Amino acid sequence: MTSGFEPGQPIEEIDTPVLLVDLDKLTQNIKLMEQITNAGNIPYRPHTKTHKSSRIAKMQLAAGARGVCCATISEAEAMAANGITDIHITSEIAGAGKIARILKLAAKTRLSLVVDHPDLIASLDRASREVGIDLGVLIEVDVGQGRCGIQPGADAARLAAQITNSLHLKFRGLQGYHGKLQMTPGFADRELRVRQALDLLQRTAENVRREGLAIDVMTGGGSGSLMADIKLHGLNELQPGSYVFMDSEYRSIEWPGAAHVPFENSLSILATVISLPSNDRAIIDAGLKAASMDHGPPVPCNLPAATFTFGGDEHGQLLFADGRCPLKIGDKVTLLPSHCDTTANLYDKYIVVRGGEAHDVWRLDARGHD
Ligand SMILES: Cc1ncc(COP(=O)(O)O)c(C=O)c1O
Repeated sequence: MTSGFEPGQPIEEIDTPVLLVDLDKLTQNIKLMEQITNAGNIPYRPHTKTHKSSRIAKMQLAAGARGVCCATISEAEAMAANGITDIHITSEIAGAGKIARILKLAAKTRLSLVVDHPDLIASLDRASREVGIDLGVLIEVDVGQGRCGIQPGADAARLAAQITNSLHLKFRGLQGYHGKLQMTPGFADRELRVRQALDLLQRTAENVRREGLAIDVMTGGGSGSLMADIKLHGLNELQPGSYVFMDSEYRSIEWPGAAHVPFENSLSILATVISLPSNDRAIIDAGLKAASMDHGPPVPCNLPAATFTFGGDEHGQLLFADGRCPLKIGDKVTLLPSHCDTTANLYDKYIVVRGGEAHDVWRLDARGHD
């Protein structure tokens, strides 16, 4: 038994604050992604930065994913330690220590990572020569995110030639991920923005191909751009992450033929009412250490009159504008995270629930910052 949790325990009796994963909804989301990408005839490599759990990654692989994406070397190490052998790191990695870890991992997995600078390629080239290990390398192109990545156009051909001329770096292709467009509310607007991003990536690919260099992988895309990415054929691998859990607001964006995203909110925060200072306010034991706020506050479930505000590190407040708080001390409240990736990262474990009961506990074994 883990502290505060026993299999078969009713949800209302679980110690809080705690992160719940609804197993049926999670399974359904994973299945739906497989169906959508199958119908679209495109492979996908889900991003594990969302859940940081090798257990969930294995469910995604069992459903048909071709491999996984990781954002950090420690995520990749955790995936590899649990038997996952096809890993793409979507962030640039620099520094001798981390490059040594990358190569150690590359010795036992099919590993790739992205680059966007000749100095980084030179470091990877030197380090891979020293140990004699091959490493897959993709060039990241900035298709609108304004973060890492070379500018679209001719520079990619120069970097691709540098990779190809190195002994152990294997040029695999291009990555173009545009996170800022993922939650564009209207589908037509989102599709237009996806088209513009994909055009930039395609033009860059043409520059590389003109130099006689082959591109195997064109990777990118997220949960929001999914249907436009499939329709527009600009990528040959998708890397959606959020669909497994679905953030509260992300779910409300328009979908082709539907008012909102078909993926369910499978992640929630369970909290307990610990104080009732007045008729219009309940205090719960979930504050800044239980829910991230980079995308706004979490959303209370089944309490349409309540608004959540942070009340401190360990405290959250549910405000009832009508002055009729229906809650009692000890009541349990569930909240939908506004951003699942950053909320999940606050916890050590998921309590997996099914049919109103605790079913299992899964650790976030890929959690960590390096
Ligand atoms: C490089 C990269 N690819 C894919 C994703 C997944 O996108 P989403 O969570 O919108 O599905 C992310 C998310 O931040 C990302 O940074």
